[in-house]
Amino acid sequence: MKLNYFIQNEINNNLKLQIFNKFSCIAPNYEDFSPLEKLSGERLLDMLAIGPRDFVLDLGCGPGNMTRRIRTRTNGKLVGVDASAGMVAQARWHARGSGILFLSKDAEELDFDRNFNVIFCNSALQWFSRPGRVVDGCYRALRRGGWFGAQAPATQQWCSLVRDVMAAASTDVRTKDDFGSFRDPLFCMATVGEYVALLSGPGFDVHDAWIERETTRHTSQEALNLLRAMAGAALFNRACYKRDVSNTFFKNLNAVIRETIHAGSGEDGLIEVNVHRLYIFAIKPLLA
Ligand SMILES: C[S@@+](CC[C@H](N)C(=O)[O-])C[C@H]1O[C@@H](n2cnc3c(N)ncnc32)[C@H](O)[C@@H]1O
Repeated sequence: MKLNYFIQNEINNNLKLQIFNKFSCIAPNYEDFSPLEKLSGERLLDMLAIGPRDFVLDLGCGPGNMTRRIRTRTNGKLVGVDASAGMVAQARWHARGSGILFLSKDAEELDFDRNFNVIFCNSALQWFSRPGRVVDGCYRALRRGGWFGAQAPATQQWCSLVRDVMAAASTDVRTKDDFGSFRDPLFCMATVGEYVALLSGPGFDVHDAWIERETTRHTSQEALNLLRAMAGAALFNRACYKRDVSNTFFKNLNAVIRETIHAGSGEDGLIEVNVHRLYIFAIKPLLA
């Protein structure tokens, strides 16, 4: 029993490391590939009223694009945390001289103790393999009266483009056998109530939470890029397949993706992309 647990733990840790490595590969292009994450990040920033002296943690900060935007709202201590070394390297480079501290760290291993007034978490929650552990760490990291604000894709339908591509890869004769062994690492819960329960666990008071559908239209190249930013770290990651998949499989997967995007595009050459996004705002009670 213990041995099984140990082996499973090792498999999960290896999967996580491979995902962080994939994010490092995407890091130099991530900002160009992620206009939708940027849009939702801007909304999250506007809704989380950050004061000029607030101490802020940007959790799963990626290349620090939103961390730099947070800097325009506060002169207080600002820390970005991301588990991908490549993302952190990009973030440090782009934010030179800004006084932002970027740490290469797993969000599941947060060891802050009442250091922040605000935690900002944009488009990262879905990648956490043990979200309960992350939420506990966030609770500890916040001062009393501090705010946690997150945006993340949610529900099983979270992105129409990713779902269509996965459906096609599961049935296309070139990919279906290997794709059948895909282990989807993304964490997307079905209802607002489940996210509220997750945050209530350590003691957060959830003030507002909702899931909304966002619709945008894109060229084929943009759609391909969006897919890479949103799910590339999983779909193009050997560690996410139980089978030992070959380079030919990935070549075929790329072909299936391009064909799916082409088939879903209208006469104007644009494809509609629907994303279900959770927004959630919670406070650490003053009497905690
Ligand atoms: C989709 S990107 C979002 C980046 C940025 N927050 C934004 O607004 O565009 C997700 C980020 O979460 C990071 N991430 C995933 N799992 C993580 C973990 N367990 N701990 C810390 N960062 C993690 C990835 O490395 C990646 O940079």
